[in-house]
Amino acid sequence: MEEDRGTRAPRPGRGTPRAYDLYTGDVARAYARWPTPTTIISDGAYGVRGFHGDTTGPEGLVEWYRPHVQAWSAAAHPSTTLWVWNTEVGWATIHPLLVEHGWEYVQTITWDKGIAHVAGNVNGKTIRRFPVVSEVCVLYQRRFAIDTPDGPMPVRRWLRHEWVRSGLPLYRANEACGVRNAATRKYLTQDWLWYWPPGEMFEKLATYANERGARTGWPYFSLDGETVVTAKEWDGLRYRWNHQHGLTNIWHRGPLHDDERLKGTLRRAAPRVYKPTAGSSAHLNQKPLEFMERLVRAVTEPGDVVWEPFGGLASGSVAAVALGRRAYVAERDKGFAKLARERLRVADATADPAAEEAAVPAEHHRRAATQEAP
Ligand SMILES: C[S@@+](CC[C@H](N)C(=O)[O-])C[C@H]1O[C@@H](n2cnc3c(N)ncnc32)[C@H](O)[C@@H]1O
Repeated sequence: MEEDRGTRAPRPGRGTPRAYDLYTGDVARAYARWPTPTTIISDGAYGVRGFHGDTTGPEGLVEWYRPHVQAWSAAAHPSTTLWVWNTEVGWATIHPLLVEHGWEYVQTITWDKGIAHVAGNVNGKTIRRFPVVSEVCVLYQRRFAIDTPDGPMPVRRWLRHEWVRSGLPLYRANEACGVRNAATRKYLTQDWLWYWPPGEMFEKLATYANERGARTGWPYFSLDGETVVTAKEWDGLRYRWNHQHGLTNIWHRGPLHDDERLKGTLRRAAPRVYKPTAGSSAHLNQKPLEFMERLVRAVTEPGDVVWEPFGGLASGSVAAVALGRRAYVAERDKGFAKLARERLRVADATADPAAEEAAVPAEHHRRAATQEAP
């Protein structure tokens, strides 16, 4: 099968020089060659016959996704995130499959396409529901449980378990962190006020417990029973989040405008397209680039690895390349892959990774260094 690799010059210390890697064929054959993903953008089957190979209803979705979810889970780092595009019912159908494979729900973004999306699409006499003008994009993180002699524990329970095991009273966590009462209240509480301690605070707790806790249970705050987790390692276990002010989990914008859509291939893009004309969309599922950019920006930094297993026109990867990330994308339809390749080439040629790199705070670079693929 065909491959196409972008050619950007290597960034110092950031691993592979490729801006993108497009595989034309079944992604099942590409997964093993791709490096550990920082994030995965899935825009696969919807159960609406949206492309050749899509299922005809939500019933077939679990089996459609199963091998992919298994591959993603096997490749993921504890800090890997997953974005899942789908209809509401499509996502609800595959959610248990994701949970079964260690993915933990974070949030749902709803794309509200607005009333314009209804026009001409709905016969109010025949449907018995409100017209659907939305899609969802759902964020998952890896479920993080720590193996202990007392069984696997979620992070929140483990932090308190380690502190209690050291024999130190809870309030001394404040002294350990150099704060008045915030450490006990935030990091060792078991209620919803709990916070994931930043690396610096984690290390303070760990150092204090190991220096002043009971000698019998040493080491405290260790994942392998031998070494104590450092601040860097701790931060590297968590997914990145680059906050974008002004954005909520509801994204309003109409479907793609005419000039944004790729057209004119005269191919049947999906089983439900009968007679394509020059004005027909090349792909029915092309996503807005600005949305893909938001997803990529939120959870990755320049140089990070973005997987897009169901490429279509590779909108997620085009966004990733434009933002200086490394995209790994597959598309099994040769016609779509050809269009995707051209988009990727242009994105690579016009990207300005230096500008993106400059926008990243130095603190994030330190964290990125601890999260590189093994
Ligand atoms: C919903 S579309 C993706 C659209 C894309 N997000 C965009 O903006 O253009 C899904 C695509 O995945 C492709 N696909 C489905 N299964 C695949 C597989 N196993 N390997 C590679 N591509 C696959 C389909 O051919 C289809 O083009």
